[in-house]
Amino acid sequence: MPTAEFPTLTIVDHPLVAHKLSLMRVSTTSSKGFRELLREISLLLGYEVLRDLPTELRAIETPVGPTQAPFLVGKKLVFVPILRAGLGLLDGLLELVPSARVGHVGLYRDPDTLGAIEYYLKTPEDLSERLAIVCDPMLATGNSAIAAVSRLKEQGAREIKLVCLLAAPEGVRALAAAHPDVSVFTASLDSHLNEHGYIVPGLGDAGDRMFGTK
Ligand code: URA
Repeated sequence: MPTAEFPTLTIVDHPLVAHKLSLMRVSTTSSKGFRELLREISLLLGYEVLRDLPTELRAIETPVGPTQAPFLVGKKLVFVPILRAGLGLLDGLLELVPSARVGHVGLYRDPDTLGAIEYYLKTPEDLSERLAIVCDPMLATGNSAIAAVSRLKEQGAREIKLVCLLAAPEGVRALAAAHPDVSVFTASLDSHLNEHGYIVPGLGDAGDRMFGTK
């Protein structure tokens, strides 16, 4: 639940999430295992991030009799993975909401400044009508998330949430300072960033772990 120190943050505190995340942290977990676990956790994070989706009661007949049952009222969604590691959360989210649109934001971290450099942006035209769920496994410095959210707002997005696997306090604070309207959902709030901008204890470079590039 959000706290006074981190008012935008929800930590999805569940033993299944914790167990799968611990397996992902282990440095010998294979890329295949890492991707599978990330997809599984994305289903559980997605469940929480979409908890407020509106529903309406409609009259239906069950085999036993009539009742009023809740149905989603068609809030339009767009999932926006930050390339490349954000792709690891996308399939699970799309399993939950297959009709959602997908936007892509391509950002890389300048290794010296840790600033976010944009190299790709493609979003649906009707962004202003959609709840945008930005996904990136690691909320580290917050630079990528801030840049992605800023660009989505420039493109018209008005309602944005961010889902990540791990968050560092520095990144949560930076994103909240830049975009206090964006709530963040994570499986864990880790200790801090190291001098290279990596989350400690973290799990290393999420993109490299997913794709076996190191
Ligand atoms: N990005 C990663 O992939 N890992 C970190 O620890 C920080 C940023």
